[in-house]
Amino acid sequence: MTTPNDRAALDKCFSTARLNGLTLRNRIIKAGTFEGKTPGGLPTAEYTELHRRIGEGGTAMTTLAYCAAENDGRLNENMIYMDDYVREPLTALIQTIKTTGACVSGQLSHAGGFSKNKQLSTWMPRGPSFGLNRLGMAQGMFFSLALSKAQIRERVATMGRAAAFMKSVGFDAIEIHFGHGYGLSQFISPITNKRGDEYGGSLVNRMRFPLEVLAAVRQAVGDGFPLLGKISMSDGVRGGVSYEESPLIAEMFDQAGLDCVIPSDGTSSMNPMLLFHGDSILPGMLRQEKNLLMQIGLRAVGPRLFRYYPYRETYLIENARRIRDKVKRGSVCYIGGVSSNESIAKVMGEGFDFIQLGRTLLFDPDFVKHAQADAAYVNGCNHCNLCATLIEAPGGIRCVVREGGER
Ligand SMILES: Cc1cc2nc3c(=O)[nH]c(=O)nc-3n(C[C@H](O)[C@H](O)[C@H](O)COP(=O)(O)O)c2cc1C
Ligand code: SF4
Repeated sequence: MTTPNDRAALDKCFSTARLNGLTLRNRIIKAGTFEGKTPGGLPTAEYTELHRRIGEGGTAMTTLAYCAAENDGRLNENMIYMDDYVREPLTALIQTIKTTGACVSGQLSHAGGFSKNKQLSTWMPRGPSFGLNRLGMAQGMFFSLALSKAQIRERVATMGRAAAFMKSVGFDAIEIHFGHGYGLSQFISPITNKRGDEYGGSLVNRMRFPLEVLAAVRQAVGDGFPLLGKISMSDGVRGGVSYEESPLIAEMFDQAGLDCVIPSDGTSSMNPMLLFHGDSILPGMLRQEKNLLMQIGLRAVGPRLFRYYPYRETYLIENARRIRDKVKRGSVCYIGGVSSNESIAKVMGEGFDFIQLGRTLLFDPDFVKHAQADAAYVNGCNHCNLCATLIEAPGGIRCVVREGGER
């Protein structure tokens, strides 16, 4: 039964909202879910169609996941990077999505020292410190090398240049990826950042590079352009970023001018199931993995890496509340396990400004239309996470349950 409070919360969700200079038709944003539909770094027609359908279904803004800042910022060679080679198709893709009335955000990312990109311009990827490159082992890229200070300055400038490019091709907003164990979060995490200079050690020092990136991006796009930032509330391993530290991280980004904090959780490199909750992606990944060395590695570390976190609705809300309480200037976008109007009402009722949806929009691109039409709407995604195992499959991801495919 919908209470008057729930009704008010749903009304809040499904009416227009402002994000810096941008008007959104409601408060639902498609989360970045790398779809694997950019072979060789170029978007396919299926990629356009997936996001166009999500726009048609009433979502206020969709996010093109993992837009690498440069070639060396890609996890692999099948991701787009922000350079002139992709200007035309990317502009056309964004324009097509916008015909539905949806806005388009791009997730500005860098792999740092976690990469298996065969087209890397250097022999090993670079991050904050020397360490293992867990993703590149099977490609012979065993290590991540430490960036020099001059290279840090160069990378900051690269991120700013990429942001200017993104604005020029028509993105309405940029979501900077500060989480999940990728390049920027490698600096925030005390596990991957062992530097002894002003970029390592205390939280203030570990935040220096990400804050410099934020400043460079802001400088590139101007004050009136919406900037969101996705963070991890924890690395998910002992000695990493903790739930105690992440509210301070959110506060620092907020004070530095980020318009919206998105508190996600976990790291692709150290504890990926914290992002998703639900069924482990390990069996599916083993089925998809063609590289024998990777298979052996996955079998060896898989059970420890892919821990089990049972799915429950709004599974990140307890820790996300601590982020919401620290963010005073900008807004907070809740992410993680929203699949019904009941959950939307709960999240909105607790004072979050926006909601990002990942899997539920892959299951039903008409989520928003359906939720607006039926107060009792419940999305049918069963959190099997099979979509996430198809990221590197030919054609990329799809909801196999929706398609009636085998589990
Ligand atoms: C197939 C798939 C790919 C994903 N790729 C990304 C990504 O590229 N960047 C990112 O920040 N999060 C990624 N995620 C995580 C989602 O953005 C989101 O944090 C997670 O799915 C939880 O939200 P949900 O419960 O609404 O699905 C991915 C998730 C899925 C299912
Ligand atoms: S495959 Fe479909 S049902 Fe399974 S988690 Fe992905 S979107 Fe949900």
